[in-house]
Amino acid sequence: MTTGSEDAFPHLTTLKDGKEQAVGEARYVTDSAGKLAEAAAVVADDWQNRGLETPLFADLIAEARRRGLLKIFAYFDADNKSMIRVGQKVGFRLGAREAGSDYSMLKAEILL
Ligand SMILES: CC(C)(COP(=O)(O)OP(=O)(O)OC[C@H]1O[C@@H](n2cnc3c(N)ncnc32)[C@H](O)[C@@H]1OP(=O)(O)O)[C@@H](O)C(=O)NCCC(=O)NCCS
Repeated sequence: MTTGSEDAFPHLTTLKDGKEQAVGEARYVTDSAGKLAEAAAVVADDWQNRGLETPLFADLIAEARRRGLLKIFAYFDADNKSMIRVGQKVGFRLGAREAGSDYSMLKAEILL
């Protein structure tokens, strides 16, 4: 497995049958001023719950801080225990549930 932070986005890849495959990554998009960002994360199904996203998300926050961002927020599905746990472990504060007719989300944020 290899690690990288191309474009500031921490990611993991592995080789399968000689081909590089994505394993997981953490990303954000900033507002036009480059001070506020929304983050998201994904790890391939076969690699989940092995402790991979936690350091990727932590690295993303560290990079955002280094770049002078002031705040990162993210929306977590209220049933997504895994993502909520990752967010809490890296220091996100969870807000109140924002419920729609067919979803329930939590807004989480971290001040940098
Ligand atoms: C959410 C996601 C990125 C987490 O990646 P991951 O590599 O599996 O996360 P980690 O292994 O680093 O951490 C998962 C944590 O959740 C915990 N967890 C998993 N399922 C859980 C459950 N049902 N209840 C409580 N905790 C749970 C794990 O025990 C672990 O915590 P721990 O280290 O304290 O034991 C991954 O599951 C994913 O890609 N899901 C689909 C896409 C998604 O939902 N993205 C989030 C949108 S922002």
